[in-house]
Amino acid sequence: MPAHGRRPTSAKFTSTSIFILTCLFFVLYYHPSTLSTPRDQDQDQAYKHAHDHDHSTYESGSRRQSASPRIPEKIWYKVGPKGLSDQSHAWLDDCLHKNPAHSAQIMTDTTGDEYVQEHFSHRPDIVELYLGLAVPILKADLLRYLLLYAEGGIWADLDVSCGEVPIREWIPERLRAKAGLVVGWEFDVGWGENIIRQFESWTIMAAPGSMHLLMVINDIVDAIRERMEVHGVSVGELTLDMAGSVIDLTGPRRLTRSVLKSLGMVRNETVDVKSISHLLEPVLVEDVLILPGYSFASTANVYANKTGPALVTHHYAGSWKNENGGEV
Ligand SMILES: *[C@@H]1O[C@H](CO)[C@@H](O)[C@H](O)[C@H]1NC(C)=O
Ligand SMILES: *[C@@H]1O[C@H](CO)[C@@H](O)[C@H](O)[C@H]1NC(C)=O
Repeated sequence: MPAHGRRPTSAKFTSTSIFILTCLFFVLYYHPSTLSTPRDQDQDQAYKHAHDHDHSTYESGSRRQSASPRIPEKIWYKVGPKGLSDQSHAWLDDCLHKNPAHSAQIMTDTTGDEYVQEHFSHRPDIVELYLGLAVPILKADLLRYLLLYAEGGIWADLDVSCGEVPIREWIPERLRAKAGLVVGWEFDVGWGENIIRQFESWTIMAAPGSMHLLMVINDIVDAIRERMEVHGVSVGELTLDMAGSVIDLTGPRRLTRSVLKSLGMVRNETVDVKSISHLLEPVLVEDVLILPGYSFASTANVYANKTGPALVTHHYAGSWKNENGGEV
């Protein structure tokens, strides 16, 4: 009798549990995704990888950890008015194929504007400047820092392809929990001693709310204002010529200077660039993981000996370097 009595009880219990678990699943799974995915008329441009739907299953079922517990498994891309080229599409697909736990979100000019308005309403100065900017490359530069600051993840330019090492293995195991921002040297080895070292900005990985990225953002806002004052123009009237060196204003040199400045403030002493130069393996400075040149910029560095693997390849489309600072 007890054995008989147990079955229906447990069956009842099971169906109740399934019901509760199903509800929980919908609440937990759909709630965050509706929060984090902007829904709008450009939604069809937001490319969600098929594997994204297996996300929760993959996480719980896999023994492999994410690259860092603080960095969302989301890759950000941004397309210009011409959309995604076949070549970029192929690179993007390949990246997602190699990283099935990751999803991609492709921003457009419209969704970028909306995203910044929505997520930076507490910083009207940023919103006004971002929406007002007319030079595409300045907006594209600023957008990556804003997206990564607001939500974290991985920024990838459209001319970047993934190497064979899965993103989950990009950060050495012992540094995983500590890395809040991951940057790679663009020019580090093979350029002599008199170069100005810079982090590349085509691939950046970040946890949301990085104070170092906020420094980059604030410094860009100040610097663009300064350019406007020098030329006596509004933000919308600022041209590529007036902006001067884009690399300095919003690009890799800005990223490098502001991150090092922010680290200097955290440490209350200037970060000695020599101590993070000629890297042959990643180095952690506070919560900033600096990868060697070969990781993200293998073709831009020359080593005497064999190095580690190229994690990404930058194909230097250099598409913004046209007269108006446009994109692909
Ligand atoms: C920072 O360093 C300066 C000298 O380099 C020192 O005078 C100051 O007290 C330090 N500030 C903190 C908060 O440690
Ligand atoms: C390259 O490898 C050789 C042999 O292992 C070593 O003696 C040399 O110091 C290395 N050079 C550099 C620049 O790491």
